[in-house]
Amino acid sequence: MEIKLFCPATIANLSCGFDVMGLCLDGVGDEMIIRKSDLKGIRITKIEGADLPLETEKNVAGVAGLALLNELDLDFGFEIEIYKKIKAGSGIGSSSASAAGAVFGINELAGKPFTRKELVQFAMQGEVLASGSAHADNVAPALCGGFTIVRSSNSLDIIRIESPNELYATVIHPQIELKTSEMRAVLQPMVSLKSAITQWGNVGGLVAGLYTSDYDLIGRSLHDDIVEPLRGKFIPHFDQVKQAALNSGALGSGISGSGPSIFALSRGIENANKVAEAMRNIFNGTEIPYEIHVSKINAEGVKII
Ligand code: HSE
Repeated sequence: MEIKLFCPATIANLSCGFDVMGLCLDGVGDEMIIRKSDLKGIRITKIEGADLPLETEKNVAGVAGLALLNELDLDFGFEIEIYKKIKAGSGIGSSSASAAGAVFGINELAGKPFTRKELVQFAMQGEVLASGSAHADNVAPALCGGFTIVRSSNSLDIIRIESPNELYATVIHPQIELKTSEMRAVLQPMVSLKSAITQWGNVGGLVAGLYTSDYDLIGRSLHDDIVEPLRGKFIPHFDQVKQAALNSGALGSGISGSGPSIFALSRGIENANKVAEAMRNIFNGTEIPYEIHVSKINAEGVKII
């Protein structure tokens, strides 16, 4: 009748994979309760931790859930309670955690008619509401866990790829809000052939590095020639934080999603903690409050707790 979920935060883009690559975090995420109800449709009955609309059609979880419900012939409905821990506009997939949680929970209570991958198409409708664009690089890892590639968002070809065991993410979230829609508006519609060649070389290198547990190759591939140069300037101390992460042993570092969070990947938890310390030191010298997370890659994705 009722399930409680952990809805994980995610890091999208991973430097070279704009709108295509993402990974799922552990220990950082929202909680949600989804309950069957005699009334058809979806009602959001409670939201704690954020000032978000309760109206189903204006809420990311509501819209994603309705997209799924339209495909099902059910004689009952659902109530949703959302306990937000991930702040909106943080760059670690706040809206996708809500959308992924809603479709996963409803699917479970409806008898699992869809696979996790198939649920991505419905969760994406939440991203459309939140940012005006149908990208799946946050919802895919939130639903499927691990690293994911959205090979095509038209035919929704989602590939879940293996990653080495010792890979850890460090994410620092300076407490300012950057709207994804605004951070997409600063991008250029055209890229040069030279930048494109560099970028797809890095995407190939990153995927190969993840499959073969080649940490150096992963590090060499975590570069973004196209989006980071245009967005980095909106993130306070971005260059310093990135440099501090690299100096303290991170394999690579970049903007998490559309920012302002900054991520780094490291080999082993000790290195990831050292990177956290280095990132913290930069922000400790400023007035800007921040949150920092060190996380293993979450292989499972959204789950029942
Ligand atoms: N790929 C998206 C972007 C992720 O960078 O705009 C944020 O939702």
